[in-house]
Amino acid sequence: MKIGNLQINGDVVLAPIAGYSDVGFRAICAKQGAAITYTEMASAKGLYYDKAAKTLELLNTTDDEKIKAVQLFESEPFFISYAVKAPVIEKFDLIDINMGCPVPKIVKNNEGSALLNNIPLAKDIVKAAKDNTSKPVTVKMRLGFDTINAVEFALAMQEAGADLLTVHGRTRKEMYMGHSHWDEIAKVVKAVNIPVIANGDVESYQDYLDIKAQTGADGVMIARGALGNPNIFSQITGKEDRPLKDMMLEHIEIMRQFHNEHYVHANFKKHMACYCKGKRGNKEIKQRAFESKDLQEMINIIKESDIYD
Ligand SMILES: Cc1cc2nc3c(=O)[nH]c(=O)nc-3n(C[C@H](O)[C@H](O)[C@H](O)COP(=O)(O)O)c2cc1C
Repeated sequence: MKIGNLQINGDVVLAPIAGYSDVGFRAICAKQGAAITYTEMASAKGLYYDKAAKTLELLNTTDDEKIKAVQLFESEPFFISYAVKAPVIEKFDLIDINMGCPVPKIVKNNEGSALLNNIPLAKDIVKAAKDNTSKPVTVKMRLGFDTINAVEFALAMQEAGADLLTVHGRTRKEMYMGHSHWDEIAKVVKAVNIPVIANGDVESYQDYLDIKAQTGADGVMIARGALGNPNIFSQITGKEDRPLKDMMLEHIEIMRQFHNEHYVHANFKKHMACYCKGKRGNKEIKQRAFESKDLQEMINIIKESDIYD
C-alpha cells in the first residue's frame, strides 16, 4: 500500500484507541506486525494552547513503530493548520484526522463524527492540513451520522486532498451496536481512487481475510481485537507469537521510559484487564492488580502469575 509518497510494508494496522494506544502498546503491536500505529485522538487546539501537557503526553513514540501516525481532532481549520506544523508532530510519518468519534462531548463541539454532517467544514479541515504539511493526510470516518452518506463524504474528502480513508463500517447512531457493515465499506472502495483501510469487528485472521475479500480494501485496521492481544498482528502477518507475560513487561518498560511510575501504574490497569480477559484465574489477578499500591507490586503480580504462560 502507498499513502501519498509513503510506502507501507504491510496491510494491517493498529487503530487509534483513546485510553489504550499509549507509546508502549503501539511499540508492542508494531513488533508483532502492525504496519502503521496511530496515537489516540489528540486535540489540535490542545497543541495550540499553553495547557498542552495532557495532549503532549499522548504523542510519545519509539522507533519500534514502523509508520508513526498521529490522529488529531478539531473543528476549526485554523487549529489544524497550526497543529500539523507543530514541532512535536515532526516525528510522525502521517497525519490522520478524526471524523468518526461518536462521543457526545466531541460531537457537540462539531468535532469527530459531527463532521460527517458538515461536508464543507470537513473539506476545509483537510485542505488546511494539506496546505500546511508535506506529510500524507488521512481521514478516519464512519459511514454517516444518522444515515449513511459514506460515498458522498469519501468523494468529498478525496477532492479536498485526503491521501487515504479509513472507514469504520457503522454510522454514529449505531455507536458500537450490531456488526460493521463491510458491504458499505466496499461501496466506498469502489467509488474512490485513493487507498482505503477497512475497519470494524476484525478479531481473528479469518476476519482479516473476510473483510479484505468482502470490501476489496487496501488495508485492515484493528482496535478492540488487539486489546490484550497484540499477537493478532503476528497471526495475520505470519510472525512468531510472543508470550503475553513478555509483552506485558516490555509494554510497561517502554511506558516507563516516558512517564512517571504513578502514571504507568494507573494507565496499565486497563491493559491488565484486557490481557487477563478470558484466561483461567483472571478475576483474582485483575483484582490483585487493581488493588496493588504501586507499579512495582503490579509488575511482581505479573511476574509471579502463570496465567499468561
Ligand atoms: C475504547 C475505545 C477508544 C477509541 N478511541 C478512538 C480514537 O481515539 N480515535 C478513533 O478514530 N477511533 C477510536 N475508537 C474507534 C476504533 O478506532 C475503531 O474504529 C472501532 O473500535 C471499530 O474497530 P474494532 O471493531 O476493531 O474495535 C475507539 C474505540 C474504542 C473501543
